[in-house]
Amino acid sequence: MSNDDALILTETDGHVGIIRLNRPKVLNALNPELMSMLAAQMEAYDKDSNIYVILLSGSEKAWAAGADIGDMAEQSAISMYERDQFATWERIKRVKKPVVAAVSGWCLGGGCELMMHCDVIIASETAQFGQPEINIGVMPGAGGTQRLTRALGKAMAMDVILSGRFLTAAEAVHHGLVSRVVPKEHFYTEALKVSQVIASKGPIALRLAKEGVLKAFETPLSEGLEYERKLFYTLFATEDQKEGMRAFMEKRKPEFKGR
Ligand code: CAA
Repeated sequence: MSNDDALILTETDGHVGIIRLNRPKVLNALNPELMSMLAAQMEAYDKDSNIYVILLSGSEKAWAAGADIGDMAEQSAISMYERDQFATWERIKRVKKPVVAAVSGWCLGGGCELMMHCDVIIASETAQFGQPEINIGVMPGAGGTQRLTRALGKAMAMDVILSGRFLTAAEAVHHGLVSRVVPKEHFYTEALKVSQVIASKGPIALRLAKEGVLKAFETPLSEGLEYERKLFYTLFATEDQKEGMRAFMEKRKPEFKGR
């Protein structure tokens, strides 16, 4: 990861495909070019049969301080509509493999919304979360009013979105916005460790389990349960199910192959 001009930096570590946001001068503000490169790289990892998990990280100072305000300041309603900047976010939403987020520092506006597109979130104790769009005369536009409300509940989401206040990492984990909080020196190594643990599981089971959890946000309970059962039965068509269960019976570690 060495190219100073690249908007994102990439590398792989075993079956983990790593992406780091790289606009340090503007606290990783998300402009359309960066988002389009990010979506393309996530899709590339999603298609790569050697990658089981995607790890998305910012820097220690900033995960991302939001959509790029300079890029939006002089846009009109029509130009915003025509350029359809959230189409790239839809592509990120469609990624099937688990996405782990390593979050430290500022995680605001579109940054917080990007984090909420991820599946397992490892946050540094210094991370600060918020949807401060209200301070600049707008409101969240990449899912904040919907996903933050599902994560925090109505009263907390209204507080954060209407007052523009920031949540600490302790508040975020308490309210279920992030998965774990760790000391700031370890936020990236912990997220990589968690990614490696997840990548040691069967990749098809991982994808279907993610699909099942996300379905819970889209359906009534009875429909979600029915959907889950079908995903569960489908896994009995995989070699990994046979390997996983036989390995347990034979008291050995399973070797999953993603088949
Ligand atoms: N867009 C563009 N540039 C940004 C930015 C953003 N979202 N956030 C920070 N920057 C830039 C600053 O302009 C500054 O650039 P210069 O050095 O050229 O002046 C640089 O990053 C460092 O920022 P600060 O000097 O402001 O750093 P700070 O430590 O004093 O404050 C901060 C940090 C509280 C995060 C502050 O930068 C801030 O409030 N940023 C904006 C946060 C925000 O409003 N985010 C929402 C954006 S709108 C959105 O995201 C819409 C959506 O739903 C998709």
